[in-house]
Amino acid sequence: MTVPTTNKANIAPVITIDGPSGTGKGTIAQMLAKSLDWHLLDSGALYRLVAVGAENKGILYSNINELKKFTLEMDVQFSRLFEGSIELNGEEVSNLIRQESSGELASQVAENPEIRVALSERQLKFRQMPGLVADGRDMGTVIFPDAKQKFFLTASPEERGQRRYKQLINKGLNVNLRALLLDIAARDARDSQRAISPMVPAEDALLIDTTNLSIDQVFEKVLTSSQQALD
Ligand code: C5P
Repeated sequence: MTVPTTNKANIAPVITIDGPSGTGKGTIAQMLAKSLDWHLLDSGALYRLVAVGAENKGILYSNINELKKFTLEMDVQFSRLFEGSIELNGEEVSNLIRQESSGELASQVAENPEIRVALSERQLKFRQMPGLVADGRDMGTVIFPDAKQKFFLTASPEERGQRRYKQLINKGLNVNLRALLLDIAARDARDSQRAISPMVPAEDALLIDTTNLSIDQVFEKVLTSSQQALD
């Protein structure tokens, strides 16, 4: 997929953090953006918003024209993103879009090339001074190929399942670990095998296996490499 280029003069630096869910990349991206005092793009949230918003309006994913119209026109407010609040067309939807089922729906929407293109322009607008930390699946490969520093976080499927399980249980949700592991495997397969912008590490990405690392240990590695890249 080709993303429209912008005027390179005076362009804000970007750090990308890609990888599958359950690797801690969302938390690490937030910590890094806070620490550098940069903007943050949670691109997965955009796919989730399209999926959930369209479903609530009764738009079928197969109705590409309507889905694309909704994607281009949706009003999204990430005003307090660091606290996790997200508004879609004036309604607070952060809990709704964080559900496991919304991730699954997002992954179906994300296979559609027209929706990816429609969302790419919105993602590029997040690139503002003094800089942007972008979290997703294709941030380093497709959306910001000229990023100053790219990371790709991984962890074993079992560890990612356990982490996600604990998160959902802590939120008071009723989850089944076995079903969760199957869902994670299905979503990984769809995300990494899709024809357009599949989830793969950029050639110049730094791979970090977080299976046996704490969030603080991962953050230390990410911060050190980012600071070196920005020097
Ligand atoms: O990161 P998160 O779990 O919120 O992403 C939800 C889904 O959105 C992913 O499983 C993936 O299918 C899609 N996605 C994507 N490209 C991105 C971010 C998310 O295809 N940059």
